[in-house]
Amino acid sequence: MKAIILSGGKGTRLRPLTYSGAKQLVPVANKPILFYCIDNIVQAGITDVGIIISPETGEEIKRAVGDGSRWGISIEYIQQDVPGGLAHAIKTARNFLAGSSFIMYLGDNLIGTRIDTFVREFNDNSPEALILLKEVDNPKQFGVADVTKEGKVLRLIEKPEVPPSNLALVGIYIFSPKIHEAIDRIRPSKRGELEITDAIQELIDMGCKVESFILEMWWLDTGKKDDMLTANVIVLDEWLKAGIDAKVDDKSNILGRVSIGKGSVVRESKIRGPVVIGENTVVENSFIGPYTSIGNSVKIVRSSVEHSVIMDGSELNEIERLEESLIGRNVRIFRNNKLHKALRLMIGDDSVVEV
Ligand code: DAU
Repeated sequence: MKAIILSGGKGTRLRPLTYSGAKQLVPVANKPILFYCIDNIVQAGITDVGIIISPETGEEIKRAVGDGSRWGISIEYIQQDVPGGLAHAIKTARNFLAGSSFIMYLGDNLIGTRIDTFVREFNDNSPEALILLKEVDNPKQFGVADVTKEGKVLRLIEKPEVPPSNLALVGIYIFSPKIHEAIDRIRPSKRGELEITDAIQELIDMGCKVESFILEMWWLDTGKKDDMLTANVIVLDEWLKAGIDAKVDDKSNILGRVSIGKGSVVRESKIRGPVVIGENTVVENSFIGPYTSIGNSVKIVRSSVEHSVIMDGSELNEIERLEESLIGRNVRIFRNNKLHKALRLMIGDDSVVEV
């Protein structure tokens, strides 16, 4: 079995972060989402992996992921010239897939479980497609499945106005090569994309066996700010390993699960885990509260921050209380100590500032 990971697309919903980079590389607990996808695929024993990239962010993805040797696998990059939809991405990867069964993993999806049991199910029962479903509160934003009590899939609809259920399609699918035939029979949707949801519906209409599983563990489509913060909380809570590789002075106090990388320095500060701090970061006279991820080369001085993500190269200076915030790379936030209490902002397009 092979795997393809979809890392193309436009990433419009995570703007402004994704103006300067691929959404699949946005970090959760200091690790790009895409790396969690690769970990999960490798754990399922798959070594032949293709990553779908776009012309805009492909180079950045290649630089971050490399040739796969870090995971002991080979990774091939497949450029999709336009974001023509998930089924279009499979079409683009047809040569790479070479008639093999395959996993399709969306590079912005994070799930709280391994996928090897689904691979085993697929190999044992030989359906033409195996899909994962998850109960959600907002089914209109996803592909939605209508299934019988026994789990038989009757119908699949992409982002329906009136959802037939609250079971969303998770962005991890396993297909036999029959999916190519179904993709050749479908037409672009209203949003102009070749939808994988329509292709799976086509398999059902062709009389093929489509198996579904309802996911009990958490699943996050990390497309939006709140999902990113939720992903950060869950991953820090469940997967963070403590380990301090930094200089911490004796006026500082660290409690709970905290990981701090090489070259970082903590002075006269309090840190309450779960917290991850990257390399070469300075924390001084500050409080870092639970569920915070701070990247590499960040500087936090006389500030208090919790439940937030602060990416590489950013700086907080005299910020009394920052919470539930997502701060991109190389951002500077500082207090102006003059009497004149005006806000002076330089903020990119599509930013949100709550004062
Ligand atoms: O996350 C699950 C949902 O993913 C499913 O419930 C939906 O049925 C499915 O259509 C998909 O919906 P989204 O609208 O969230 O997909 P999005 O456009 O965000 O693309 C998902 C990933 O695939 C993302 O990492 C970008 C990549 N992609 C997307 C398109 C459209 C590509 O690589 N090429 C593409 O052409």
